[in-house]
Amino acid sequence: MIAVDGPTASGKGTIAKALAAHFGLPHLDTGLLYRAVGRQCQQDGGNPDDPAQALAATRFPDSLLSDPALRSEETGGLASRVSIHPAVRQALYERQRAFALRPGGAVLDGRDIGTVIAPEALAKLFVTASVAARAERRFLEMQARGEPVTLDAIEADLAARDLRDRSRSAAPLVAAPDAVTLDTSSLSRDEAVAAAIRLVEARL
Ligand code: C5P
Repeated sequence: MIAVDGPTASGKGTIAKALAAHFGLPHLDTGLLYRAVGRQCQQDGGNPDDPAQALAATRFPDSLLSDPALRSEETGGLASRVSIHPAVRQALYERQRAFALRPGGAVLDGRDIGTVIAPEALAKLFVTASVAARAERRFLEMQARGEPVTLDAIEADLAARDLRDRSRSAAPLVAAPDAVTLDTSSLSRDEAVAAAIRLVEARL
């Protein structure tokens, strides 16, 4: 089982997908589950900061997971808010744990895979990058999608999201003690993937 954790736009999703393809393993993007909760809560007219209303939204239909709107910055912000509540994290735990325990192995990416969901994982990567590098990547992605945005607004949003993810009391974003850190600030996509494969191979 391979755990990939790290902040938004660090490259962890790209790396997790590439590792899954390289090692022939199924992949779960756990951020998508929190995004679905945030989106469902909004659709229900609920308040994402209210623990009971956020918890009710964990019963979202599976079809929501394939909605492209989950990828938006707005939904990312909602996800970050609902993910603060311990009851929400608990409600999503079993689904993630079952995926992590798949007999043939699996790759999961998120914030607390190596610390909470699968502390026994053989290979744990903590993928990071500077706020400037992450903001620039997100800026280029959003520009390519035609979303109107400024680099300053993205930097501010990333910094706010980082602070919320790192300072929450339930499963804060932190590298597991036995995780290997991979800083992708000055790496191309292919360089980052190659480095991740080397690090995982050294652990398996
Ligand atoms: O990774 P992604 O940007 O899709 O995650 C959206 C939000 O969901 C994060 O900002 C974080 O607050 C939350 N999250 C989490 N635990 C995870 C995955 C995501 O708290 N395992």
